[in-house]
Amino acid sequence: MKKVLFASLVTFISAWGAWQLYGDPPPQVGPDRLKPFMQRKLDHSKAILEGLALEDFKKIAENSQALSLLSLESSWNVLTTEEYLRQSMDFRRALRVITSGAREKNVDRAALGYVNLTVRCVECHSYLRNNGGAAAFEKDAQSDTPANAKP
Ligand code: HEC
Repeated sequence: MKKVLFASLVTFISAWGAWQLYGDPPPQVGPDRLKPFMQRKLDHSKAILEGLALEDFKKIAENSQALSLLSLESSWNVLTTEEYLRQSMDFRRALRVITSGAREKNVDRAALGYVNLTVRCVECHSYLRNNGGAAAFEKDAQSDTPANAKP
């Protein structure tokens, strides 16, 4: 009887151990975790537009710098494909034009940068969409093509 108890205890403990090791869901890397982070881009870019419309250069510079910092956070780099890094560089370049325009109190230059920024948003998103969304890249982060792409 003792043996049976011991055996079932061992079974239970090892099963529990295995559950602890492998049972936990993998860390969220999908859109659920990213959503609030990505949404912040929209907040900052709306604020830049507001700054442009009101010639509030402080608001423009603050939000453009905040966007730049956002693009350097680890959550930004959901993808590490060359194309994504290129898109991210273009994005930061547009932001630098906005920030320097705001510092020079040159609303035209900042507005031009903003137009470019908007194009950057659209370009990167359409790149993602054409390739099945960010999730499609997760299994094969080093590749320039999504993991589920047909040859
Ligand atoms: C370098 C690429 C890149 C650029 C540039 C970019 N985004 Fe995104 N964006 C992403 C990725 C990656 C996601 C997540 C998509 C997914 O989960 O499939 C995303 C998602 C979003 C979402 C959706 C969040 C949700 O509710 O699911 C919004 C809103 C957004 N971006 C706004 C912007 C805005 C505004 C800009 C420009 C100011 C911008 N993005 C520029 C890569 C980019």
